[in-house]
Amino acid sequence: MALNVKKIREDFPILKVKVHGKPLVYLDNAATSQKPKQVIGAMSYYYENYNANTHRGIHKLGEEATEAYEKSHEKLAGFINADQDEIIFTKNTTESINLLAYSLSNEIKKDDEIVLTQMEHHSNLVAWQQMAKKRKAKLKFIEINKDGTLNEESVRKSITKKAKIVSIAHVSNMLGTVNDVNKICKIAHDNDSLFVVDAAQSVPHMKVDIKKINCDFLAFSGHKMLGPTGIGVLYGKKHLLEKMEPFLYGGHMIKEVKFNGSKWNYLPWKFEAGTANIAEGIGLGAAVDYLNKIGIDKIKSYDKELTEYAMKKLEDIKEVEIYGPDIRNRISVVSFNVKNVHAHDTSAVLDREGIAIRAGHHCTMPLHSVLGIIASARASFYLYNTKEEVDKLAEGIKKAVKVFK
Ligand code: ALA
Repeated sequence: MALNVKKIREDFPILKVKVHGKPLVYLDNAATSQKPKQVIGAMSYYYENYNANTHRGIHKLGEEATEAYEKSHEKLAGFINADQDEIIFTKNTTESINLLAYSLSNEIKKDDEIVLTQMEHHSNLVAWQQMAKKRKAKLKFIEINKDGTLNEESVRKSITKKAKIVSIAHVSNMLGTVNDVNKICKIAHDNDSLFVVDAAQSVPHMKVDIKKINCDFLAFSGHKMLGPTGIGVLYGKKHLLEKMEPFLYGGHMIKEVKFNGSKWNYLPWKFEAGTANIAEGIGLGAAVDYLNKIGIDKIKSYDKELTEYAMKKLEDIKEVEIYGPDIRNRISVVSFNVKNVHAHDTSAVLDREGIAIRAGHHCTMPLHSVLGIIASARASFYLYNTKEEVDKLAEGIKKAVKVFK
């Protein structure tokens, strides 16, 4: 059964907002998604009824807050088929990857290799780049084909016995390419390398099963999957997390502290130092409930349908160049440029029509260099968008073509 988008839209108060006097058309979901009232409500309910710190006070509110916060870990674990103690709440994908790069750095020696791809978001590039510099290790980048898919020969050549870590995006935030992480994971493991998935753009849009991928670590953000900002996830295989050094030291992450030494708490709290983002954790749990209720497979098909529709509409405008693969290897994202028009100008014209897209380098500056462009415009879709909104996007782009002729 298809999604009841009309009903879904009623859950998102912001969709009633007017921008420059026009109904909001929100097509910047790869940057951040909107939030349903169920998520906003879960967070307000916490603040209004049981606000307290977790794992500390022996009192009713403290117990309720702890239970709800732990329950959210359980929900997130269920969502990606992990165990509850393998789910670490971080601030976002960027923090999850920084945690990894920091905590794994002792394992990296001179001339070891860290393999990424040319399509990585800065969050899955800069942390490894800086760690590689410190450890005198080497970074390698799997090349992309002209159509924005990964080059298979480059995958095979880049991942050798020298690779200690292979870390790649599941879905490119600029090209929308869906990478075959199952296959690359096997190649990484055959070469005794750890395999990390940046799942920031996949978890909100498709079923991600860490056991099927067999990845060692996987990172994603709450705010792109209907949850609040300030909360993200790092999944890690338990035996690996147990061996790793903590990222941040202080309260909550300890089992025992003496003046001259400390012992670390059980997983996942060993990696969650200090007072947590409790309301945000609870909000993310509510977002997972919402996505589960709608059904992630249905969301995936609908996202794909909208993306395909948008590609067709944009392909019909001869001044538009679209980046990335065809619909078979893509989901949710369409980046493009209008001939002789800067992406910022395209975006400004669309904004006057109430249409929000992203314009710029989308935190993928090296990828833009590979494509030979400085910037691009990007429309990205989610479960509450409609084909009528895509029609408005196409009309808005035609207006931009005229304005800058
Ligand atoms: N990573 C987000 C984006 O691609 C911010 O827009």
